[in-house]
Amino acid sequence: KPQNQANLFYQASKVTRRQRETVNQNAAFTIWFTGLSGAGKSTIATELDSWLFDNHYYSYVLDGDNTRIGINKDLSFSRADRGENIRRVAEICKLFNDAGIICIASFISPFADDRQKARDIIGPDSFIETFIDTSIETCKQRDTKGLYQLAESGMLPDFTGISSPFDLPLNPDIHIKTDLKSVDECVNEIIITLARVKKIR
Ligand code: PPS
Repeated sequence: KPQNQANLFYQASKVTRRQRETVNQNAAFTIWFTGLSGAGKSTIATELDSWLFDNHYYSYVLDGDNTRIGINKDLSFSRADRGENIRRVAEICKLFNDAGIICIASFISPFADDRQKARDIIGPDSFIETFIDTSIETCKQRDTKGLYQLAESGMLPDFTGISSPFDLPLNPDIHIKTDLKSVDECVNEIIITLARVKKIR
């Protein structure tokens, strides 16, 4: 154990995850969205969350912009801080899942080894890597936040896809190619896959 953890003792809960899931009437898991800025992660996450709610599932979205405004406000977009960002949010997803809640995690998570670490933290059976695959040309064209323009003019350093890498997911559990699809079609594809792998009914 590292020195600062020598005198820490994990306190187990009396209520199991299974019992909480029984009350919620749904299995808890994390659906992890990875993809470029502007790929549509947040939009699809919000619509999926809304569908799950309407169908009586207990879910919650964790989103990069939101968590970086709050719990991760001390982190930058350096390689190390992006790793720490993903580690922290993966730990949060694990807690949510333990509480019986479906977690929709929406983070660029550009580095394959950080995604692997997230999978390890959350547990491989509870982690569904979902590649929101939108070409960089489409993301640039949309540029809803104006960030691509800033990055290309050199005013925003370390911007994913322009001046910072994105490792393509080689074997995602779900692969959504959004370029030619509507948001509804993307959400439907995810719902169908979740049902096929028996995460939802
Ligand atoms: S990461 O790479 O997983 O740590 O990023 P994440 O926590 O998902 O945060 C991504 C959002 O931060 C905004 N933003 C940037 N993204 C990438 N690179 C740089 N340099 C950057 N600066 C700010 C941007 O709004 C991202 O949101 P999305 O929804 O992906 O567009």
